[in-house]
Amino acid sequence: MLELKNIVKSFGGNVILDDISLNIEEGEMVSILGPSGSGKTTLLNLILGITDIDKGSLVYNGRDLTRVPMEQRGFNIVFQDYALFPNLNAYQNITYGLKNKPGISSKEEVEELIDLLGLREHLTKKIEQLSGGQKQRVALARTMVMKPKILLLDEPLSALDGVIKESIKDRIKTIAREYHLTTIIVTHDPEEALTLSDRVLIINKGKISQYGKPEEIINRPDNSFIREFILNQLEIKRNNIFSLFQCGLTA
Ligand SMILES: Nc1ncnc2c1ncn2[C@@H]1O[C@H](COP(=O)(O)OP(=O)(O)O)[C@@H](O)[C@H]1O
Ligand SMILES: [Mg+2]
Repeated sequence: MLELKNIVKSFGGNVILDDISLNIEEGEMVSILGPSGSGKTTLLNLILGITDIDKGSLVYNGRDLTRVPMEQRGFNIVFQDYALFPNLNAYQNITYGLKNKPGISSKEEVEELIDLLGLREHLTKKIEQLSGGQKQRVALARTMVMKPKILLLDEPLSALDGVIKESIKDRIKTIAREYHLTTIIVTHDPEEALTLSDRVLIINKGKISQYGKPEEIINRPDNSFIREFILNQLEIKRNNIFSLFQCGLTA
């Protein structure tokens, strides 16, 4: 279990995260949902260990990790912009981390992951020859071969759309379940958060607005921010889809 206890983070005198406390169970998929600038990436970076925590603590399976360096935490992230190596091909990107830590994944495990992510036919391609969705899957594979104890994903679907988005969403779900992986996904899209995860953490201006199962948030939103921002967005989406269909029928 990952425990965040009263975490505070400021940048240049501005409080960015204000007294964040929550637990994430082993194998659970949690979304961090909030508007742009609400502190989502900062929270992910604190868990990963690339950003220091000002106050409060981070405990994983009973061990205090607050001051433990990133490399010793055993967590791993897929950055929002993928951060792939442009001079290496897809396969070389996927297996890059294994050079320093050989044996973390066996050859068979790497091959299995390649198939699970549908990357077999793209392995010798250069990064610039890949589509957004393919890059995203390579980034996911590169992180997964390192067998992170916790998988962190920063807006993994935001650069994708339509069918590809749905397909990658399904793959993330499948992989997380197959490997019983604790996964934390940052998103600003309520629909994504509510359909993908076991629990959703909603943050607004650096504070927790609500933390609960999707059905709890939909049926019992804690406050007006959630009602207005989150549920309205879903409503707008539904109305857009509805008007699309109406156009289709009358055209
Ligand atoms: N390294 C930094 N230095 C100063 N301010 C930062 C830094 N990182 C983030 N911030 C500020 O913290 C706030 C939250 O940023 P971020 O966590 O990236 O939000 P989100 O991911 O929810 O869009 C923003 O106002 C941002 O400008
Ligand atoms: Mg962000």
